Amino acid sequence: MKAAGVNGFDWKLQAGYLQRAYPVPMPATLGLELAGTVVQAGPGAKVFKVGDRVMGTVGMGAYADHVAADETKLCRIPDGLSDVVAACLPVASLTAWQALHAAGELRAGQKVLIHGASGGVGGFAVQFAKEAGVMVVASASGRNREYLLGLGADQVLDRHTEPFEQHANGVDLVLDFVGGDLAARSWPVLAPGGAVVSTAALDIAANAPGGYRGIFHSMRSDPARLEQIAQSVASGKLKTTIAEVLALSRYPEAVERNKNGHAPGKIVLDFTI
Ligand SMILES: NC(=O)c1ccc[n+]([C@@H]2O[C@H](COP(=O)([O-])OP(=O)(O)OC[C@H]3O[C@@H](n4cnc5c(N)ncnc54)[C@H](OP(=O)(O)O)[C@@H]3O)[C@@H](O)[C@H]2O)c1
Repeated sequence: MKAAGVNGFDWKLQAGYLQRAYPVPMPATLGLELAGTVVQAGPGAKVFKVGDRVMGTVGMGAYADHVAADETKLCRIPDGLSDVVAACLPVASLTAWQALHAAGELRAGQKVLIHGASGGVGGFAVQFAKEAGVMVVASASGRNREYLLGLGADQVLDRHTEPFEQHANGVDLVLDFVGGDLAARSWPVLAPGGAVVSTAALDIAANAPGGYRGIFHSMRSDPARLEQIAQSVASGKLKTTIAEVLALSRYPEAVERNKNGHAPGKIVLDFTI
């Protein structure tokens, strides 16, 4: 293991919020995504060999010095991409891509409102949505306005002073990357037939009013897409933002900051410092 991204899943699991949705046998080692180097290949391994630099998702257990990973969930780290940058891609970039294109069925010319646009997932969603030719309204803290405009957002709403209910309407797709009551508050800003896709509100489908779609999206491993995304990052076409890099020994701080607020982008644990 060289580096691992920190995710909201960590503190939600620790706090017991996921007992019903994602029962996990205890004791468990946290950590959903990784970047590292293959030191041993299992008997059935066909794709990777010792010495290959790989990245991807694991069910759990990435916060460890060695991880046994399923090679069908990994891809190569492109030359020129550091392990720390690679580790912040799998969960956030695949979640953003799938929320927009698989769950959200986004089409060019539509309007998207993104709650939590400054976070790890949101930063990719803003860029993927612009690439797809849609208008992007990004909601986050006002201090992150310039950052979000720099990623391509057409409009930025300061969530503290510009409530989206008063500043957004006719939205085809709302992406909720925050949770709480945001999904429930988003129905009135939708255009007819619109959808809210949430990565945090587990009960969203049951609560969707008639005429609207409410979808909870759970990220799926997709190494082929991840490799494409990683190449876009390596070539400079796609931006990644790292909020903070911490040593593995500072993992409790990393999880605390992921829960209670952090700079834009993704918190990463670097196993080499
Ligand atoms: N279901 C899945 O497969 C899946 C996969 C990945 C992530 N997730 C979940 O998706 C969520 C986002 O993940 P993430 O890694 O992007 O988290 P993150 O990096 O912590 O980003 C969330 C950001 O949302 C902003 N925010 C907080 N309250 C807000 C509000 N009321 N309105 C608008 N923005 C608000 C905050 O930024 P400011 O400082 O700008 O306010 C915060 O940094 C988390 O709940 C995570 O657990 C689920």
